[in-house]
Amino acid sequence: MSEWVLILGGSTGHGAATAKRLANDGYGIIAFHFDRGDAKKLAVETITEVNEITGGRCHYFNTNAAAEETMDKYIPQIKEITSGEPVKLLLHSIAFGTTTNLFGEKPVTQRQMDMTVHVMGNALLYWTQKLYAEGLLANGSRVMGLTSEGNYVAMEGYGPVSVAKVAMEAIIRQIGWELGQFGITANAVQAGVTPTRALTKITEGWERWIENTKKRNPMRRTTTPEDVAGTISMLLQPEADFINCSIIYCDGGESRSGSF
Ligand SMILES: NC(=O)c1ccc[n+]([C@@H]2O[C@H](COP(=O)([O-])OP(=O)(O)OC[C@H]3O[C@@H](n4cnc5c(N)ncnc54)[C@H](O)[C@@H]3O)[C@@H](O)[C@H]2O)c1
Repeated sequence: MSEWVLILGGSTGHGAATAKRLANDGYGIIAFHFDRGDAKKLAVETITEVNEITGGRCHYFNTNAAAEETMDKYIPQIKEITSGEPVKLLLHSIAFGTTTNLFGEKPVTQRQMDMTVHVMGNALLYWTQKLYAEGLLANGSRVMGLTSEGNYVAMEGYGPVSVAKVAMEAIIRQIGWELGQFGITANAVQAGVTPTRALTKITEGWERWIENTKKRNPMRRTTTPEDVAGTISMLLQPEADFINCSIIYCDGGESRSGSF
């Protein structure tokens, strides 16, 4: 079993919980985050904890992981860290996009749309291509990304991100289809509404979303980052070797429940 995982967006929310969980599972953690101001403090808390759990087998980089220069600069370092061994997991858990509607007071611009789809969708493809070319994804490696119900439901402020989610799902499906023959699988995990930093940025009505979700969800609560981390941990088990090109729901049945 490979000993390292690579998490894009590993400082807060789902990415941070996954880093902690996989650190506890025994993996070394390589992670990217992009935090300024107050967010840096949260990042430091996560890094300190992951550092402790892993006994120092932890490398966090605070830079834009969606930039090609970042990939080209850091992939050689990643190779050094893993001693050339493939990573067990490449996880995309980045939240960085424009949360606005397509029409109305602030209609999304082409630049915002392109940026959102690139950072939250296409960037996973370029990371996968470059890691694969370097032998850092190989038999047993998993590629994963996080998706949401916004992949097929229209929601306030979620238009551009929903396009990115659909793009990411298509990319994941195609990666799994092309690389499955080499034992590399690709899957999306669909999380339910989770109170994280990103959620508060989607809409001013996020608190109402949370209350509504608790009523709507068959299990009467929102998803936690730890739920998602546990699912990802489970998907790294050898028993999940044959799960490929799929969307795995980690939402307590929320997306199967009609609105009330
Ligand atoms: N919160 C939810 O309700 C929910 C539901 C389903 C799916 N998701 C998805 O989960 C993923 C993680 O979101 P979250 O809710 O944990 O949010 P979050 O804001 O807590 O975490 C986002 C992470 O992305 C990092 N980041 C942002 N821009 C980056 C960049 N350019 N380069 C590197 N790192 C960058 C941040 O530093 C942070 O670590 C997102 O793709 C989001 O769409 C969230």
